[in-house]
Amino acid sequence: MIRPLRGTRDILPGEVERWQHVERVARALCERYGYLEVRTPVIEREELFVKGTGEATDIVHKEMYSFTDKGGDRVTLRPEATPSMVRAYVEHALEQSLAAVKLYSMGPMFRYERPQKGRYRQFHQLDVEVFGLNDPAVDAEVIDLAWTLVDDLGIRQSELVINSVGCRECRPTFLAALLEALGDDVAKLCQDCQRRAAINPLRIYDCKVPADQAIIERLPHAIDYLCAPCAEHFAGVKAQLDAWGIPWRISHRLVRGLDYYSRTTFEILGAASGESADGAEGGAALGAQNALLGGGRYDGLVQDLGGPDRPGIGFAAGLERLVLALPREAVTTVAPGAFVVAIGAGARADGLNLLRELRRAGCVAHMDLEGRSLRAQMKRADRIQARVTLIIGDDELAKGEVTLRHMTSGEQIAVPRGAVVDAVRRQLASRPYGARETS
Ligand code: HAM
Repeated sequence: MIRPLRGTRDILPGEVERWQHVERVARALCERYGYLEVRTPVIEREELFVKGTGEATDIVHKEMYSFTDKGGDRVTLRPEATPSMVRAYVEHALEQSLAAVKLYSMGPMFRYERPQKGRYRQFHQLDVEVFGLNDPAVDAEVIDLAWTLVDDLGIRQSELVINSVGCRECRPTFLAALLEALGDDVAKLCQDCQRRAAINPLRIYDCKVPADQAIIERLPHAIDYLCAPCAEHFAGVKAQLDAWGIPWRISHRLVRGLDYYSRTTFEILGAASGESADGAEGGAALGAQNALLGGGRYDGLVQDLGGPDRPGIGFAAGLERLVLALPREAVTTVAPGAFVVAIGAGARADGLNLLRELRRAGCVAHMDLEGRSLRAQMKRADRIQARVTLIIGDDELAKGEVTLRHMTSGEQIAVPRGAVVDAVRRQLASRPYGARETS
């Protein structure tokens, strides 16, 4: 038996319906907010991520699936979507063809990380990006979309954290203050942090090594070093979030693990511990990997990747984590359907016709094509949780009728053959498949 790669997984029936639900809600929401879908390749030139995601990040430094292809090109399985979205925006000059460049994408990403609950080597993101707009209301609108996504999925006890990491004007002052505050303590930090201090000191805030935390907690806060335009921008974001009643908390450590951010950064955290988790409402707790989504502004990235000087902002949500946090009862995994039970050769021919008529009319319909005994057919109808069975025997054939049995009540009625499809449609339509029962 050949086993799958560590950190990759199959998504099987029973779970896949939860994925479909998350994808459906995400897609509908993006469209409601005016975003258009883009699909970019999962494989790109390595250079795109080295320049885009940033050489100083853990992603580029240690986690990329990069290799030399048979033509000798260095290629990478994308670790995130943002650089590809920027590349597509620039390459196709989307600002000229689209009235507003608000894009979304969904698909697999690849990072060679240590797998654990909520963290995989192949995982999936919903990625959302807006290009060309500076106003703080745009930041707030993107955050609102993220917040509404989590809310529409029925995920409770989530928390929005925000920060501002400043711009190319004010960042150097902050970094200088940071290095000064760090002083000789830099030698006491982990190897990774010592490397970070030399290449990109901001990354020190991402450190999870317990022994480093006391030192990091004492370091200065980015929001105390913002230049006037950045401070005003951040105030605008907070004011708009307040106006919409979206609760936020500032996290000084929220510098995000990627190099391209400027000004606003944000994350929505799900429940890390079990309290919420297995209650009536909440889905599974996420454990240490509790960021449901994260993002921010990246005003220099488009230009860094060879495009015009245009700002950008966006976020990505981990679909695995949304599916984990989704309330258990949010999705029905069995589509209500009809089961055609035929007894005898004539009945079987008519049953096969009825099966096709039902499917063409939009109903989920099943039949035992192996033609087993009545008992075996009824047992199967039960097993697949058919909502109704349609029984055709000699009697029914002679009368031009079908016996419709409602499986939960056991009630049976005779329906004229010509009216069966409509009767089944009505029975199956009572609650749409996949919808939240509570909404
Ligand atoms: P990120 O924080 O690296 O940001 O990832 C966003 C989300 O993807 C995380 O919050 C998490 O839910 C999920 N995620 C990341 N790594 C894994 C993993 N190994 N396994 C499972 N889920 C994971 C970005 O990727 C940026 N491109 C977001 C962005 C878009 N910023 C601006 N625009």
